[in-house]
Amino acid sequence: MKFFVDTADTKDIADLAATGLIDGVTTNPSLIAKSGRPFAEVIAEICSLTDGPVSAEVVATDADGMIKEGKTLAKIAENVAVKLPLTWDGLKACRTLADEGIPVNVTLCFSANQALLAAKAGAAFISPFIGRLDDIHLDGMELIQEIRQIYDNYMFETEILAASIRSPNHVKLSALAGADVMTAPPSVIRSLVNHPLTDKGLEIFLADAKKAGIKV
Ligand code: G3P
Repeated sequence: MKFFVDTADTKDIADLAATGLIDGVTTNPSLIAKSGRPFAEVIAEICSLTDGPVSAEVVATDADGMIKEGKTLAKIAENVAVKLPLTWDGLKACRTLADEGIPVNVTLCFSANQALLAAKAGAAFISPFIGRLDDIHLDGMELIQEIRQIYDNYMFETEILAASIRSPNHVKLSALAGADVMTAPPSVIRSLVNHPLTDKGLEIFLADAKKAGIKV
C-alpha cells in the first residue's frame, strides 16, 4: 500500500519523507489556504521534497477552465497530479488531461458509480472520502470495498486512494479492503507506530540490559 501525506505543510512533509515511507503528497484548496503561502510556490516546494505524485487541485468549475488550470499546474513540476472534482465538467476535463498524459486525481468521491465514471474518464487516482461518509453515519469502508470489486471486475487501472482518513483504524481497514493508496494527515501517519506494549517491552529490555551491563 502506498502512503501519501495529506498536507501542505512542507516541514511535516520533509520530516516524514526522511523516513522513506512516504510515496506522495495530496493537497486541497483548504490545506493550501491553511499554509498561508502562494499556491504555485508551495506546490513547487512540495514537488521537490518527493519523487512521488503531488496532487494539486484546480479551482475552476467549468471543463475548459479546469483544463487550463490543470495544464498550468502540470507545468510546475513533472510529478504534479491534477486534482479535479467529481462533476460532469471534472470528468470531461479528466478525459482531456489524461489523453495528454497528465495524471489526474478525481476527488470528492462518495459513491461507487462516481468511481466507475472516474475510471472510465481515465483517472490515475480516485479519492473516496472515508471520514466524511462516516460523519454522516454511512460506511466509508464499504465504499472502498465496492470500488475495489468494480475496478477488479473490469481491470481498471485507476488507483483507489483512500482519503479523508482520520484514524489508524481507517488506515488498517483501507489496507484490508485493498485500497492502493491511503492519504492521511501527518499526525495519523505518525500515530501508526504507537503501541503501549512496544513501549513497555522496550522499557523492560533496556532495564534488563542495563542491569546485566550489556553493551553492543
Ligand atoms: O484527502 C482529503 C482530505 O483532505 C479531506 O479530509 O478530514 O477534511 O475530510 P477531511
